Amino acid sequence: MGKLKEISSEQVVNLSLDGLYDSDQPPSLDALTRLLAKPAGRAWAISGVQGIQAVVWFSVVQDEAEIIDIRVGEAFRRIGIGESLLTQSFEKLRLSEIRSVFLEVSSSNTAALALYAKLGFTMMGRREKYYETAAGREDALMMRCDW
Ligand SMILES: CC(C)(COP(=O)(O)OP(=O)(O)OC[C@H]1O[C@@H](n2cnc3c(N)ncnc32)[C@H](O)[C@@H]1OP(=O)(O)O)[C@@H](O)C(=O)NCCC(=O)NCCS
Repeated sequence: MGKLKEISSEQVVNLSLDGLYDSDQPPSLDALTRLLAKPAGRAWAISGVQGIQAVVWFSVVQDEAEIIDIRVGEAFRRIGIGESLLTQSFEKLRLSEIRSVFLEVSSSNTAALALYAKLGFTMMGRREKYYETAAGREDALMMRCDW
């Protein structure tokens, strides 16, 4: 498994994250980079010999963190990297007194839903037909995990 490191807003421009964010699907790398420059922005990455394999971005306000995005490079999926990245970054957040994490995910994103369920997230609500996709409108599910 690769190594975890926190990413600062100064470092992010020098990391090759474009490969992870090469589709039109939001959020864009630009938007995430702007988030990281704000006081609430935090991000961690897992890197291997070939560079960054996965990255997760949070917005932290008081004792709550929101996962803004998590992305594992396609070549590195289904080998435990996403789970490891979340578990390790949650551990760091716990050390800074964060007591809950919440997020929003598309109802069709079976991989992400299974990952969040495995980590103990529960569904808090649903925004019907919230996302516009090529396949039509999809619901957004709000999930939360409290420590
Ligand atoms: C969702 C995502 C981050 C998962 O990362 P990953 O590294 O492939 O996941 P892991 O290998 O750590 O899997 C951990 C658990 O998640 C679940 N899971 C992950 N991918 C899955 C898939 N394709 N189908 C079903 N379950 C899946 C399983 O429960 C798995 O546990 P298991 O291996 O014991 O079965 C990755 O698919 C991704 O980057 N997707 C595109 C971006 C995205 O949709 N992000 C979420 C935004 S809300």
